[in-house]
Amino acid sequence: MNALSFPNTSSPGVSGSALSLATSAVAVAAPYPAQDAELGSRGMPGEGGLVAAFTCVAESAADIASRDALLDRAMSPNWRRKSSEKIRRGRRPAEGLAFVARDADGSVVGTVRLWNVAIGDEGRSALLLGPLAVAPSLKGAGIGSALMEHAVGEARRLGHGAIVLVGDAPYYARFGFSAEKTGTLAMPGPFEPHRLLALELRPGALTGAGGTLRPSGRKVRVAAGVTAAA
Ligand SMILES: CC(C)(COP(=O)(O)OP(=O)(O)OC[C@H]1O[C@@H](n2cnc3c(N)ncnc32)[C@H](O)[C@@H]1OP(=O)(O)O)[C@@H](O)C(=O)NCCC(=O)NCCS
Repeated sequence: MNALSFPNTSSPGVSGSALSLATSAVAVAAPYPAQDAELGSRGMPGEGGLVAAFTCVAESAADIASRDALLDRAMSPNWRRKSSEKIRRGRRPAEGLAFVARDADGSVVGTVRLWNVAIGDEGRSALLLGPLAVAPSLKGAGIGSALMEHAVGEARRLGHGAIVLVGDAPYYARFGFSAEKTGTLAMPGPFEPHRLLALELRPGALTGAGGTLRPSGRKVRVAAGVTAAA
């Protein structure tokens, strides 16, 4: 089952690498037992030390309204106009690669999706990751990292070769993303080249790749008279 759970403590000294161990562990469906709590994040804001666990699970249709509301809160107001949205609009996320983080009440507190893309004329396959967002009140609790670790792990498990994203290198470097292989890649609209980052899941998957990313995923099926939403 594609789910990971993370009990969060505010224990000092719990490092990012400890979190990585938790997130890269074999997927489990239930929260880790109490004795494993030290594998949780560096501390979710809250009182009294131990706070609610969060869980990374596959996004369901019932999550979509909450997820969109979270994005509106977490992202800059123009996130729907980004170049990445040109790839996402009217498409469905890559099969099995849309995730949410839930708090103990089941509320959506984080989101990440991956999308099928083809690169340039050659049409080499890759994934585009994004948006990644966490509820503003829970930033810094490890939810973004957990979602990233989970999403990258699932993409690897499903046999994908590479993931591309547009984002802040200082954040995504911790997951192995860099601009090393993206100098010959472009987004279908304005983008800052130093923010175009990639991670090869299969060594050499991006070697020699070049051109503009374009959507190659499944299209959203739109009922007559209804406007498509990405
Ligand atoms: C970026 C985001 C997803 C990170 O999620 P999170 O759950 O807060 O992150 P984590 O708790 O896993 O990691 C926190 C660490 O990342 C660092 N970090 C967070 N955002 C960062 C950024 N944009 N650039 C560099 N470092 C960043 C924090 O300083 C912290 O560092 P530390 O481990 O040295 O203390 C979240 O802050 C968010 O939703 N931001 C708004 C949406 C957004 O900008 N998304 C795209 C990101 S390019």
